[in-house]
Amino acid sequence: MGSHFIKYILEKYPDYFVVNFDKLTYAGNQDNLRELENDSRYKFVKGDICDIHALENAVKENSVDVIINYAAETHVDRSIMDPDVFLRTDVLGTFNLLEVTKKLGLKKMVQISTDEVYGSIEEGSFTEDSPFAPNSPYAASKAGGDHLCRSYWVTYQTPVVVTHSCNFYGANQYPEKLLPLFITNLLEGKKVPVYGDGKNVREWIYTGDHCAAIDAVLHKAEPGEVYNIGSGDEISNIEITKIILSEMGLGEEMIEWVKDRPGHDRRYSIDHSKITKDLGWKPVKNFKDGLKETIVWYRDNEWWWKKIKNGEYLDYYNKQYKER
Ligand code: TYD
Repeated sequence: MGSHFIKYILEKYPDYFVVNFDKLTYAGNQDNLRELENDSRYKFVKGDICDIHALENAVKENSVDVIINYAAETHVDRSIMDPDVFLRTDVLGTFNLLEVTKKLGLKKMVQISTDEVYGSIEEGSFTEDSPFAPNSPYAASKAGGDHLCRSYWVTYQTPVVVTHSCNFYGANQYPEKLLPLFITNLLEGKKVPVYGDGKNVREWIYTGDHCAAIDAVLHKAEPGEVYNIGSGDEISNIEITKIILSEMGLGEEMIEWVKDRPGHDRRYSIDHSKITKDLGWKPVKNFKDGLKETIVWYRDNEWWWKKIKNGEYLDYYNKQYKER
């Protein structure tokens, strides 16, 4: 998502200067921003938000005035196997960003977070006032970071805005998440592993819609505010699987029913009326169109995901099922 936002913001605001401070973990990928390598408005700094000195230097040296925190460990299944790094990056890393924002008097920090902090909901939708009830180490780590944001605003008036987004989808997504995993598996002639009964429901937002929402938050939101960024496009995993199969001209024999994820949240749903009312943002991409475009992107960019699937990814993938 970070790379999508950088491209979006530089195209919309040609006089902006963006510093991409990135640790380049397994999910980071410099291929995503190759086109900006020689652009004087863009600078890449390899660094870890857990290293506060490196962070502070990057902010000072480049006269940064706002921070948008896209840096996170995000994959639930990995957090179940190896929670340690989630706590470090998502809690301590966020703490460091808040410290730097406060100490250097930056204009704003935008925290990119998730709807998963609210937990699972059978009916209705979570609002910004709903209590946190995270169920995975990933969600709990993000909730910890978000609570710190709130506390920095209340205690120090550090100008931070927190956003809770539903599931992203689109190009350049690491093929461990549902959509890119299923699409690339099918392109490789492999089956797709549906967890449990496949009836878990997620709400899906297209990358471009999410970029526009963060643009609105960056430029218009008051500090201390919290915004849900949703789409209203709720769909179960099995329904999504069937749409992908039909778009790709394949049958249901390509489904492999596998053991459920431990602690698997049944349904996520957020109410995004506050951001529409306050900031005038609303999602525009129709889910089926976005999904079709995403399939086409993976079909046309095999070089991008083949490199990943032949690398570190396979070890993780096999380990996941062995441990469950
Ligand atoms: P995921 O993309 O991991 O996002 P999150 O868990 O953060 O919502 O998973 C989306 C849904 O798809 C979730 O209900 C788990 C399910 N899923 C599968 O059924 N099979 C898979 O291989 C993956 C990765 C996810």
